[in-house]
Amino acid sequence: MIDFEKDILVTGGAGFIGSHVVRLLVKKYPHYKIHNLDNLTYAGNLENLSDIEDSENYTFVKADIVDDSAIDKLFAHNEFDGIIHLAAESHVDRSISDPMAFIRTNIIGTVNLLNAAKDHWAGSEGKLFYHISTDEVFGSLEDGFFTETTPYDPQSPYSASKASSDHFVKAYGNTYGLPVILSNCSNNYGSHQFPEKLIPLCINNIKKKKSLPVYGKGENVRDWLFVEDHAKAIDTIFHKGNVGETYNIGGLNEWQNLDVIKYLCKIMDSKLGRIVGESEKLITFVKDRAGHDLRYAIDASKLTNELSWKPEATFEAGLEQTVDWYLENEIWLEHVISGDYQHYYQQQYE
Ligand code: NAD
Ligand code: TYD
Repeated sequence: MIDFEKDILVTGGAGFIGSHVVRLLVKKYPHYKIHNLDNLTYAGNLENLSDIEDSENYTFVKADIVDDSAIDKLFAHNEFDGIIHLAAESHVDRSISDPMAFIRTNIIGTVNLLNAAKDHWAGSEGKLFYHISTDEVFGSLEDGFFTETTPYDPQSPYSASKASSDHFVKAYGNTYGLPVILSNCSNNYGSHQFPEKLIPLCINNIKKKKSLPVYGKGENVRDWLFVEDHAKAIDTIFHKGNVGETYNIGGLNEWQNLDVIKYLCKIMDSKLGRIVGESEKLITFVKDRAGHDLRYAIDASKLTNELSWKPEATFEAGLEQTVDWYLENEIWLEHVISGDYQHYYQQQYE
């Protein structure tokens, strides 16, 4: 039996960002045991981890973070040194139609994990509860950038649930002395993202010559970060961050939605051998999202100055790599868009 130096629990490791984090940790730290806890909702997919699933330092646990007794038992049977908590309901549009699911997983699920850590880690040194959050907790920006001291002003049920979970994490640090760290990141893109989010939804629709739904006028601005850069930031913060601190993570890469979609059309026309401008004709302006935040933009200078992290991928290179991945992984895409996705798509867009 291998004696691992650390046991790390990653929650939500079968999702988009979680699978990139698990892969990075499993490969970079063969002396750590990585426990991936996920209950495989529509967004969780073990195919995301097929390349590392047989690694000796990796194990999968199917569990729901809302199930407090299952979480307590898991902590009673394992001595985790750290938790990197990513499990969440993550899509704003779904939070508008079903806010309770977000309250259950994002708030109650997070508090269940905090309770388990508090109860089982009492008096232990060197533990860390790292909560992964979003810049959406700060609300919509007119000028400037979100910093770590920007007041919270969540506008959607999703961001309200993430803001609540952030506050609980900080409260457990403050009240019970639980060693916590948080980070708030901007919009991610990259391989393995569920095609309900803007970029993979458009890649799939361009490929299939289906309409590209632009909410409102397409003028909303997002700061896009390549998911592998986010995973590297999480690794950096987990290992070098100061307990009790929060770090903003972003790409310094603001784009209006319409420009992102047009740029994707250009890349894909060229890759699919279509005439220039063909895919842009698919752009369709649809009813705006309720309460749609106009702009997000992150100042990540604390993370850069204190822990020497900065984004490596350019948007051009990252997006091209992302498009290539979706075009090369047709079976993955067909699996995730069969079943429930069709129903969701009809409800949301048709
Ligand atoms: P995702 O929806 O792709 O994956 C979420 C994962 O959590 C899935 O594997 C799902 O099965 C699992 N999960 C959901 N409910 C669960 C439950 N009750 N118990 C156990 N597992 C459960 O999400 P993502 O985009 O990878 O986001 C991961 C985290 O990063 C979330 O906390 C999200 O708020 C945060 N975040 C995301 C972005 C982004 O652009 N996607 C940006 C900043 C922060
Ligand atoms: P999304 O990928 O859902 O991320 P978030 O809402 O967390 O920022 O959406 C990114 C932007 O794209 C957001 O401004 C909403 C917009 N959008 C559309 O215009 N059409 C769509 O079909 C989707 C899913 C999003």
